[in-house]
Amino acid sequence: EKGGWSSFMAKEISEEPEAVANTLIGRTADGAVHLEELAPLGDEVLAGIDRIVVIACGTAAYAGMLAKYAVESWSRIPVDVELSHEFRYRSPVITERTLVISISQSGETMDTLMAVKFARESGAKVLSVCNTQGSSIPRESDAVLYTHAGPEVAVASTKAFVAQVAALYLVGLHLATVRGTLDAKAIARNVRQLHDIPEKLAKTIESANRLRELAHWMADTQSVLFLGRNVGYPIAMEGALKLKELAYIHAEGFAAGELKHGPIALIEPGQVVFVIVPSPRDKLSLHPKVVSNIQEIRARGARVIAIAEQGDAAVHPYADEVIPIPLAAPLFEPILAVAPLHIFAMELAAAKGLDVDQPRNLAKSVTVE
Ligand code: M6R
Repeated sequence: EKGGWSSFMAKEISEEPEAVANTLIGRTADGAVHLEELAPLGDEVLAGIDRIVVIACGTAAYAGMLAKYAVESWSRIPVDVELSHEFRYRSPVITERTLVISISQSGETMDTLMAVKFARESGAKVLSVCNTQGSSIPRESDAVLYTHAGPEVAVASTKAFVAQVAALYLVGLHLATVRGTLDAKAIARNVRQLHDIPEKLAKTIESANRLRELAHWMADTQSVLFLGRNVGYPIAMEGALKLKELAYIHAEGFAAGELKHGPIALIEPGQVVFVIVPSPRDKLSLHPKVVSNIQEIRARGARVIAIAEQGDAAVHPYADEVIPIPLAAPLFEPILAVAPLHIFAMELAAAKGLDVDQPRNLAKSVTVE
């Protein structure tokens, strides 16, 4: 079933572009978004919701964190992302105007299943984004939007992540449509960006060979830090989680803006730091801020591996390595930036001689709380 691939994870990373493409199929037409799956929620209800709470665990939660930036910007609805097990055991403020969105590849994660039941008992409508037909979470939800990533076998979630982000971006554009917060032109522009992702993702994956060499060179590394800002922040978290679970290396993801508030104390000569660099075309002007973060850590001896937009000349003088990603609108770039981090974690685990598909102590679906 692995085909010619060395592991399921390698195969599944190669399927990331297809996972996005298949998740979009039949859900857009003429530059508009059509999500029949959301009909059970009712457009009137969706037009009236005043808050979204995303519940998920692990990588699925990072997909939610990333989608928050797009959904808030497009629909103007506040979005909170909560780990399912934290949400469930306190007294969250939920009303009938709260839309809860659960995200789960397996549809069997007990923490998320319990949180979904709890949300509905508390009066919220629940939309679930799920990759597994016939699983438990969809059965407990008011509406389900399936990701079409295909079966994911490796414990590390890769193609499901990019499919989850694509599905959530569709939900964001649907909400912007029913609430009138984006005009048809803007929706069409974003739909086009989504449809461009598979090809760009395939290019990103093809050009990631350099990461293989880097991973070999780094097989003895004890600690890796990941910095990202804005949409790069959830990607930094995802990069760190993958390295922990696959290569058993201490890894932390930080918001780059936090650096001076503590984490910079960790920087000593030789510390490897991945930095997800925002696009220089970003209207928020975050690019120079992150480049200056790179200068600060470089000055303290860090080895910097930057994931940056192709042609970003400002990064080269300061980074030890630059992994280029194709141009995309700022909200879409992180869907490209994540693939090199998936590849790197897999290659580092392989370089250490570890089982890439079945890391120690972990199960593909966590069916106990
Ligand atoms: O099946 P789910 O999406 O609900 O799983 C959630 C997490 O357990 C999962 O994403 C986990 O963090 C992965 N092993 C990360 O690669």
